[in-house]
Amino acid sequence: MSNLDDTIKTAREMVAPEKGILAADESSGTIKRRFDSIGVESTEENRRDYRELLFRTEGANKFVSGVILYDETIRQNGADGTPLVKVLTDQGIIPGIKVDAGTKPLPGAEGELVTEGLDGLRERLADYKGLGARFAKWRAVITIGDGIPSDYCIEVNAQALGRYAALCQEAGIVPIVEPEVLMDGSHSIDACFDATRRTLHAVYHQLMLQRVHLPGTILKPNMVLSGKDASNRAPAEEVARQTVECFKETVPAAVPGIAFLSGGQSDEEATVNLDAINRYAAKVGAPWQLTYSYGRGLQAAPQKAWSGKKENKDAAQKAFYHRAMVTSAARQAKYSPAMEK
Ligand code: 13P
Repeated sequence: MSNLDDTIKTAREMVAPEKGILAADESSGTIKRRFDSIGVESTEENRRDYRELLFRTEGANKFVSGVILYDETIRQNGADGTPLVKVLTDQGIIPGIKVDAGTKPLPGAEGELVTEGLDGLRERLADYKGLGARFAKWRAVITIGDGIPSDYCIEVNAQALGRYAALCQEAGIVPIVEPEVLMDGSHSIDACFDATRRTLHAVYHQLMLQRVHLPGTILKPNMVLSGKDASNRAPAEEVARQTVECFKETVPAAVPGIAFLSGGQSDEEATVNLDAINRYAAKVGAPWQLTYSYGRGLQAAPQKAWSGKKENKDAAQKAFYHRAMVTSAARQAKYSPAMEK
């Protein structure tokens, strides 16, 4: 199979019905923050033990098509010496890799960020492919505030996403294209709609320009939401309508799937909104699979249950299985709050 055919097949597998993606690619700084909040020291062994327990959760492969790994994890062995990549592939789970190098302040643009990591990316992708990665992730961050996002910020981030996506496809790796419009702030849902629409418009213009073949890509966007600190935050039905209508204006039908990030929503909010989005899409019709690529939305509960203690492993796996099960239900528009019991 050619690299192109390969990426098309992988992209479809990633958004298979009932399934979504687990984002476990927290950078060293981010995983330390998560561990700090549960009183666990961020050592290499603790990070390995925690991630291994997630990956070995029995039956979770019904709900998880792929896992996004961090550089350390893709090279790590489990406690018994089995490479963690093999732990995943033995269960039919596709390994993926975060390849961006994080955000830096955008020069001349107060309060805005640009994602770095293009230098040497072609070589790093070849290395990751050899380690078993079949998809990659690059996260761009767009901030809503007074007079921002600027066109400048949107454009430079979209260009980088295009460069990254083209390099991934050259390597036979599916690019997850992640332009995240942050929910931080007290802005209205309409402001989020506007920022998301402008961002996605610029991103697909760049993907087209840089000859990216859309059937071999996945989009990982934010939902269209009210700011976290807004008063009168929009209810799920409004989130669903604005999200799907925003994508209809900007995301080509050739994209096989849209896998949302949870972005700091509570577990319940992330689940209820995904369910509402799929219900609305079923009603009005939508050309893409609408699923999840959650980090916090799948991990907050098991992290808390684990709290760094070996004897909590079963409880943590149970909590992870449960979050994955209900999120999969939401992805199929079959969630009900009673499932939380
Ligand atoms: P959250 O679901 O916690 O937003 O994380 C997803 C992710 O991978 C962000 O890049």
